[in-house]
Amino acid sequence: MNMRFEPSQGLAGELRAPADKSISHRAALLGAMASEPVRIARYLHAADTSSTLDAVRALGALVEVHDEDLIIRGTGLREAREPEATIDVGNAGTLLRLLPGWLAAQEGATFTLDGDESIRRRPVDRIAEPLRQMGAQLSARDGRFTPLEIRGARLRAISCELPVASAQVKSCILLAALAADGATTVGEPARSRDHTERMLLRAGVTIHRNGLHVTVVNADELLIERVTVPGDPSSAAFMIAAGVLVPGSRLLIGDVGVNWTRTGFLRIVRRMRGIVLGDLEDDSGELEPEEPVSDLDVAYGALEGTVVEPDEVPLAIDELPLVALLGCFAEGETIVRGAQELRFKEIDRIAGVVEGLRGLGADIEATEDGFAVRGSGGLRGGRIDARGDHRMAMMGAVAGLASREGVEVLGMEAAAVSYPGFVEDLQRLCS
Ligand code: S3P
Repeated sequence: MNMRFEPSQGLAGELRAPADKSISHRAALLGAMASEPVRIARYLHAADTSSTLDAVRALGALVEVHDEDLIIRGTGLREAREPEATIDVGNAGTLLRLLPGWLAAQEGATFTLDGDESIRRRPVDRIAEPLRQMGAQLSARDGRFTPLEIRGARLRAISCELPVASAQVKSCILLAALAADGATTVGEPARSRDHTERMLLRAGVTIHRNGLHVTVVNADELLIERVTVPGDPSSAAFMIAAGVLVPGSRLLIGDVGVNWTRTGFLRIVRRMRGIVLGDLEDDSGELEPEEPVSDLDVAYGALEGTVVEPDEVPLAIDELPLVALLGCFAEGETIVRGAQELRFKEIDRIAGVVEGLRGLGADIEATEDGFAVRGSGGLRGGRIDARGDHRMAMMGAVAGLASREGVEVLGMEAAAVSYPGFVEDLQRLCS
């Protein structure tokens, strides 16, 4: 579906951010791994998180969908059912990376995971390697792509250092560690989102963080009665970018998750002199059990370029395309470094963002590990191909509202992967 987004006169009003995709995936998986029913309030009903519900159903969990809530009746940590068919993860990279952690611990059972065209290009070797060290057997196409076959085993606890900061890889190991034979420690080169750790802490698991290391002790069962999913800061980021970029805008976005490991983009926007007010979580260094939320008050204002350094990248990984977009409107240069991980997202997001924004008139260059944008006072507009990537589609729409001539987005339907009501929300705020 192609869609045009004309220059806007300003966005105004209130909005509730859609539920968090990362936390929804984790809630469904932990629900399936729990022994008692888990009630999930505000589960995200979008394409990616529906794939997770289908996957846990295939593994023997019962999923009851009510108006506001979901109830998952899980199988317990070590009793996932071996499905006859391949588990289809659809477009969901998080499901592809997290689920094998649980499956690796199912002694004697074999599982196969596969997904869509984009999933088939995304590497799984980074989870296969630590799971093998723990004792599971895994085989992947060409050693690193789906279909991925996992043979569950009695797992050993390990200590490992991740070569790149990845919450997906870290979470996979933490889930496997629950059924291992002792305490497992995972180290990462920089902090990444910690939703899995927080949810495990709330589920009664012994888990602690020491700097860049997380240690989790094996458990008999997960005890988690209820999860309330906050609004997704990564989805809210598109509205925040629109509010900051389109002259005359003023938005109030309610119920946004402001876990410190997810608010890197907000800190970058503030550094660029963008106006975003809210009660953001500070980093206490301790592992917190709760997911804090805040309302965010966003207003248009002139921006200045900034440099995003490698340590900040995992804290804003999904919002870096928007940093490039903001950079087009900012005074001076905006540079992102240490973001080579972007090449392994739904598409190669360095190439996608650079080519996409250049087509709209941006002065932007790709580097090996990021990009550099020279602010040129705005964007002309034109046409951008989402290439099946939800975040590219939504970035194109926001670019259109802020541009001089409007933008046509090819493949706007991709937004439904994480934000099904995105276009309707934008239209309402623009009217
Ligand atoms: C996610 C972690 C990030 C992010 C992805 C969701 C998660 O990936 O890009 O959209 O839910 O754990 P990596 O941690 O692998 O970079």
